[in-house]
Amino acid sequence: MTVPTVRRMKFGFAAHPDANRYFADGSIVFSHLVAILSAIFPPGEDIFVRSVRRYVDVIDDPDLKKRVTGFIGQEKTHGLQHRELNEQLAAMGYPTAWFEYLLGSTERMEKFLDKQYPSPDRLRRLRHFFLGFTVAAEHFTAVWAENILKRPEVQAMMYDPEIRNLLNWHALEELEHKSVVFDVYRAIGVPESTRIRWMRFAQNCGIPILVLFTWLSIATTDVEGRRQPFRILKETVQMLRNPMWKGFYSDMRPFNKRDFHPDQIDTTELVARWQQELFGTAGQLAGHVR
Ligand SMILES: [Fe+2]
Ligand SMILES: [Fe+2]
Repeated sequence: MTVPTVRRMKFGFAAHPDANRYFADGSIVFSHLVAILSAIFPPGEDIFVRSVRRYVDVIDDPDLKKRVTGFIGQEKTHGLQHRELNEQLAAMGYPTAWFEYLLGSTERMEKFLDKQYPSPDRLRRLRHFFLGFTVAAEHFTAVWAENILKRPEVQAMMYDPEIRNLLNWHALEELEHKSVVFDVYRAIGVPESTRIRWMRFAQNCGIPILVLFTWLSIATTDVEGRRQPFRILKETVQMLRNPMWKGFYSDMRPFNKRDFHPDQIDTTELVARWQQELFGTAGQLAGHVR
């Protein structure tokens, strides 16, 4: 198994703070959705990292240990870069800081419990609950990442080149490390039912929650959006029909089988192609690596 490569990146978000507010396909709804996702990523990825880091000392397999280090490095870097983008989005009027604030409450609780009860054998069910959440979320992101990278029509929707660069780099690395947390989960011996239950929740509630947050984001921060309820409705339908979601539910389904493993979905060719395209000798992002 390959160890995920950590790439320290430098994007130029601050270079163009006056970017088009509706940077995603010129759509108010789609742009708010992308802003929400970008806002959720850093605190969400911190939850992923904490849920895995708790078990580093009990993993015996040296290869898995190295892959976990690569996973943590990649997720930490994603968080850093999305935080930078979120600053720009906040300056453009998106409520990205709210998510950081809201998800900060689980960070406080987790950090307190980790300090008070450092052994992963304590509070087992709660810790398994977080690991199961991470495994399901990682599959959710891997399916998404695959869709973003393999569909030229999704690529064409991202107007802002630097936001597209960030999303492509992030998507590639999500595919590179898609099986790491799953392998930790198996190594720890967490019951399969925990991750499956989480996936059912993500499948049923993931998109409705995102739509709700998107509407809330528009209602509270976007005068232009508030003035055009029919446009919002129309764009919501368009967003749900976006090729980004094509085959989403069917790709999610195999996860619910007990013998599922992320590598059963073969993305090696897609990953190799994008590694070359972004980070090969004449790669689009070769100049973005620090
Ligand atoms: Fe990530
Ligand atoms: Fe990830």
